[in-house]
Amino acid sequence: MKAKNCLIFGGSGQIGSFLIRKLTKNNLKVTVVTRNIHQKGLKIKTQGNAGFIDIKEAKIFDEKKIEKLFSEADYCINLIGILYEKKSGNTFKNIHTIFPTLLSKLCKKYNLKRFIHISALGINDAVDSQYAISKLEGENNILTNFSRTTILRPSVVFSNSDNFSTQFMTLLRRLPVFPLYYSGKTRFMPLHATDLSNIIYHVLSNKIETQVIECVGPEILTFKEILQILLDLINKKRLLVPMPLSLAKFSAKFFQLLPKPLLTEDQLRLLKYDNVTSGKYKTNSDIGIPSKLFFKNEVKKYSFMWRDGGEFSTEKYQSKNLKEEN
Ligand SMILES: NC(=O)c1ccc[n+]([C@@H]2O[C@H](COP(=O)([O-])OP(=O)(O)OC[C@H]3O[C@@H](n4cnc5c(N)ncnc54)[C@H](OP(=O)(O)O)[C@@H]3O)[C@@H](O)[C@H]2O)c1
Repeated sequence: MKAKNCLIFGGSGQIGSFLIRKLTKNNLKVTVVTRNIHQKGLKIKTQGNAGFIDIKEAKIFDEKKIEKLFSEADYCINLIGILYEKKSGNTFKNIHTIFPTLLSKLCKKYNLKRFIHISALGINDAVDSQYAISKLEGENNILTNFSRTTILRPSVVFSNSDNFSTQFMTLLRRLPVFPLYYSGKTRFMPLHATDLSNIIYHVLSNKIETQVIECVGPEILTFKEILQILLDLINKKRLLVPMPLSLAKFSAKFFQLLPKPLLTEDQLRLLKYDNVTSGKYKTNSDIGIPSKLFFKNEVKKYSFMWRDGGEFSTEKYQSKNLKEEN
């Protein structure tokens, strides 16, 4: 039987690498679209066996180029998303609303078997966040245009190549005091990128027809608990200090001027809302694929690089040193 072809947008990112490995290992072919093949080609190419990965360079609004790819695709998966806006077209509206709407129209035109779009958890509640508003608008347009769509709404996704656990460990290692926004009480259900890739594969291979699925990890952790776990893993003690909202807003105004902002005003607004299942939609457990990977166990596998001594701080080396001393 001819292998099915998945057309993936945003496959060079954190989730993309895990997903390409999962799909190609299971005999699906992938065509990955990137804006810059010179920069991202090697990373994409090394995620699966030769013959299973095709890479195409295209700007996301180069409709002519993109449309051609749909004629050979069975599935389309959209992983493109941004956390902050930049000038020259990189706006939430373009990336989270207009682009996914275009993809859904092409899915319909070329009669694809399924469109999987990665949105985000909690966007119904976060009514004052432009990120959430743009994601929700995108979802609504997609569902209107193409009924064979599954929208996945993940909580925060982590892995050894994320911008979440790794960035926090870097900051916690360097800063003596760390701010707690909203007293650190916001709740999350961190989901490992492996678990999310398994969910995506499950939806495709089991022909799941649910249109919106909330995707979460196996536990609920507050922002403060997440920081405490990371501090524990990197063997650091730091003061976690609740930051008054006025000061947090003021600092976000400055941080968002950085080329890669640590925090924006929009992210601060988003942080106000719990990032947990709503009870209104099916979850990954409901469709038969509960998450298995716990935050602390998984981050432990790479957190040693943020500890004093790096790999020499691991239990393996510590016990070897002890033996030599005896
Ligand atoms: N990571 C999380 O915690 C999390 C949580 C909830 C939802 N999500 C959603 O899940 C999806 C994938 O997340 P991720 O963490 O894997 O994303 P990512 O690593 O930040 O980015 C995925 C890819 O999107 C493409 N991209 C980024 N900005 C773009 C732009 N302005 N124009 C065109 N393409 C652009 C890039 O591909 P090229 O450079 O190759 O073009 C990038 O590798 C996103 O929609 C995100 O919103 C993520």
